[in-house]
Amino acid sequence: MPDTIRPSRLASRRVRPRGLALAAAALALSACSGEQAVNAPASADAERVANLWTGFLAFSSFVFALVIGLVVAAMRTTYTEPARPLSVQRGWTLVLAGGVVLPLVAVVGLVGSGLWIGGVVARNEPPPDLTVEIAGKRWWWEVIYRGEDGAEIARTANEIVLPVGRAARVLLTSDNVIHSFWVPTLQGKTDMIPGRVNESRLTPRETGLYRGQCAEFCGVQHAYMAFVVEVIEAEAFDAWLADQGRARAIPDDPLLRRGLAVFLEADCGTCHAIRGTPADGGMGPDLTHLAARETLAAGTIPNTKGHLAGWIGDPQQVKPGVLMPATALRPDDQEALLAYLGSLE
Ligand code: CUA
Repeated sequence: MPDTIRPSRLASRRVRPRGLALAAAALALSACSGEQAVNAPASADAERVANLWTGFLAFSSFVFALVIGLVVAAMRTTYTEPARPLSVQRGWTLVLAGGVVLPLVAVVGLVGSGLWIGGVVARNEPPPDLTVEIAGKRWWWEVIYRGEDGAEIARTANEIVLPVGRAARVLLTSDNVIHSFWVPTLQGKTDMIPGRVNESRLTPRETGLYRGQCAEFCGVQHAYMAFVVEVIEAEAFDAWLADQGRARAIPDDPLLRRGLAVFLEADCGTCHAIRGTPADGGMGPDLTHLAARETLAAGTIPNTKGHLAGWIGDPQQVKPGVLMPATALRPDDQEALLAYLGSLE
């Protein structure tokens, strides 16, 4: 008989756990298809890692079911039939086959397939079409695009733009503690180790926005060390890169001019560079195209005027432990600075 839902039942306590279970299921499923999911690969390498994971899960499930089945069978035999002792030879055969050979084959198979996939991914084929240097900072990502001659084309932070279908060689390093570069939809993790340059390869086969995250505990803001990889068409990428390489002219507009003056007087240029201006600091993110970025502080807050004002005024409030000092400004100076930074597209 069909069960009709009466209005009174909607308010009853029985509905709540079902709602919670639905919400939990929706949350769990959304984690499987989002922009940061191992099992939603957008590159051949990520697909290999995803297949490896599926293989491990399937095999482990099979072994689990087998062991449970044997336990149940043994219990049924024990309780339903009189004891029948095994011969010594059969006993040994069982122990060797089930306790030594099978586990050995399973472990060698699992470890071997993991090493094999690791080797395939690390071969870094085909030859790269472009090189991107990425450095792990406290707690953000510096991104440098280099030409074939090794010369720097553009420098940005926290938002990596890549062309679809081209292989990007990614050189990873750190000048502080160990971080780990991880874009689950595009590639496995690679550590960023001070004094070393580790190499990875990103060859996205679909355009889209993919979230990345530091995967090695690196201090109090480790969880807020995020980034995005935006994969766009190859022609659009070429245009984007050319634009990112563009330096800034000193603005004509009086308000923007004053904003730049405030930036320089407040010593922001000691840590930040704005190419084309006297600001050439290398400690913090390059701000030449700051206004084109979606977020501030490595994915922590949206890049809006209000958030930017709060970030400049009191970075510790937003991201405790961050290296950026607070800068107190008069309201009109702040307005000019925000207008200038907002013009850096
Ligand atoms: Cu950087 Cu965790």
